[in-house]
Amino acid sequence: MSTDQGKPVSASQTIMSELVLPNDTNGLGNLMGGRLLHWMDICAAISTQRHSGGVCVTASVDNVQFHSPILQSEIVTLQSHINRAFRTSMEVEINVDAENPRTGQKRRCNSAYFTFVSIGMDGRPSPVPAILPQSDEEIERFEQAQRRREFRLYMAGRLTPEQIVDFQAYLHSVRNT
Ligand SMILES: CC(C)(COP(=O)(O)OP(=O)(O)OC[C@H]1O[C@@H](n2cnc3c(N)ncnc32)[C@H](O)[C@@H]1OP(=O)(O)O)[C@@H](O)C(=O)NCCC(=O)NCCS
Repeated sequence: MSTDQGKPVSASQTIMSELVLPNDTNGLGNLMGGRLLHWMDICAAISTQRHSGGVCVTASVDNVQFHSPILQSEIVTLQSHINRAFRTSMEVEINVDAENPRTGQKRRCNSAYFTFVSIGMDGRPSPVPAILPQSDEEIERFEQAQRRREFRLYMAGRLTPEQIVDFQAYLHSVRNT
């Protein structure tokens, strides 16, 4: 497939499952947050490498919240895809579900956005193919990714308040609803 025009979201789709073992848990028998972040980082890295065709590094992790404890012996399934590619960076969305193996019941435990940067053979950031969103959901996530990018680059001190145009417009629209 030629990637000159970009690649679909589906090309970066990654699904991986892990079993929560005793060594993954804290004193309460729940999955340690750091272990989950490690799995999320791996899942996201696979998505970005599928999209870019090269090695990628984690540049930032947006606000991660742990809504529901994940228990020992539960099955954790992580799903990730690229919402949008910029010049050398990509926003990856990761969703995490926990499954009780006895009942088969699943629940959403975490969602997060990671930003990865593709690194070329010279060790410098290297351009990546565009994302070609297809479904309405993919298009919506693609559009929202721009304002999240502005906000995270502002928080990282890389953009000034005057430069976060989409984010300011979003705040304005929320205030007026
Ligand atoms: C991420 C990294 C490659 C950026 O390098 P840099 O010299 O600042 O490069 P640039 O200024 O050209 O930025 C490259 C891209 O990174 C993005 N970026 C840099 N810092 C960012 C941040 N905090 N959040 C989101 N994106 C960021 C830039 O927006 C740019 O994206 P674009 O090309 O799509 O516009 C560099 O900081 C690095 O190697 N960090 C360590 C990565 C790592 O080891 N991760 C594992 C942590 S244990």
